[in-house]
Amino acid sequence: MKTFNIKGFESFTLKTFDITDAIAGRNDVIIIDRMDHASIVDATRLSYANVTKYKHNDMKDLDEKLSRLPENKGKFIVVDGVFSMEGDLSNIPEIVKLAKKYNARVMVDDAHSIGILGKNGRGTCEHFNMLEEVDLIMTTFSKAFASLGGFVVGDHKIIQYIKHAARSLIFSASITPPALGAANKALEIIQNEPWRRERLWEISKTMNKKLISMGYHTGNTETPIIPVFIGNDEKTFMLWKFLRDFGIFCNPVIAPAVPPEDAMIRTSFSATHTDEDLDFVLKGFYEGGKAIGII
Ligand SMILES: Cc1ncc(COP(=O)(O)O)c(C=O)c1O
Repeated sequence: MKTFNIKGFESFTLKTFDITDAIAGRNDVIIIDRMDHASIVDATRLSYANVTKYKHNDMKDLDEKLSRLPENKGKFIVVDGVFSMEGDLSNIPEIVKLAKKYNARVMVDDAHSIGILGKNGRGTCEHFNMLEEVDLIMTTFSKAFASLGGFVVGDHKIIQYIKHAARSLIFSASITPPALGAANKALEIIQNEPWRRERLWEISKTMNKKLISMGYHTGNTETPIIPVFIGNDEKTFMLWKFLRDFGIFCNPVIAPAVPPEDAMIRTSFSATHTDEDLDFVLKGFYEGGKAIGII
């Protein structure tokens, strides 16, 4: 077994598969938020590392969980920047503080924030002014980039290491040229058309406020992902069907994607939604909510 000998990663033994698996192995511990995306959970399984989960966004619990781990273990904290169902943010500043305290490394899955959060659209870490403080940031091209594939950024040596150790990269086909072309164009738009982000934030704040004022619960969202919590599966499907027939596309989300009592309609908004679109959505939610007895 070799040792990964770069910038404090010394205690991470080489174990390969995608990013998480390339970096953490049998003798390490991956620490994840209980609500982390399924792809992170799957990656931890492939790594053979021990996994510790902390309560969603509960920094006291993270502190406690880290304090219980043996000092000589490699510790790798992997979190969503924006949680994909709830739309809330990981507390990156506090996570980084705790990572320093316990000599852990941090990776942020910023699937839902690259292109959206931060002055330049660089995501959650830019939003918190923490770009230089985390070790790895990855994202998929399947959200704001409207394509397929993804990327990971970090220290050059670590990226080189991942390229040579990640089985998913070595033993799988590369991103196709059209997908790369689309992602490249999207990147150009993200960099050159900041008005889209401004419009998106305006839409998100307005829609959240209006849904709440109608009587819906939207939890702790801070992003264009706005969950409309219904709680009950049957009512969630009834509202979803009402909205679908009304002409609104959104997703019903039930367990295991969310805890059983948190069934919801997941809405997400785009910079190209017009004011008329948004009024139509609000009308649908109002009429559907009244008809089904949710609001
Ligand atoms: C937080 C997060 N990470 C990763 C992914 C995986 O993205 P994909 O498999 O589309 O590249 C998703 C997709 O839903 C996601 O929400």
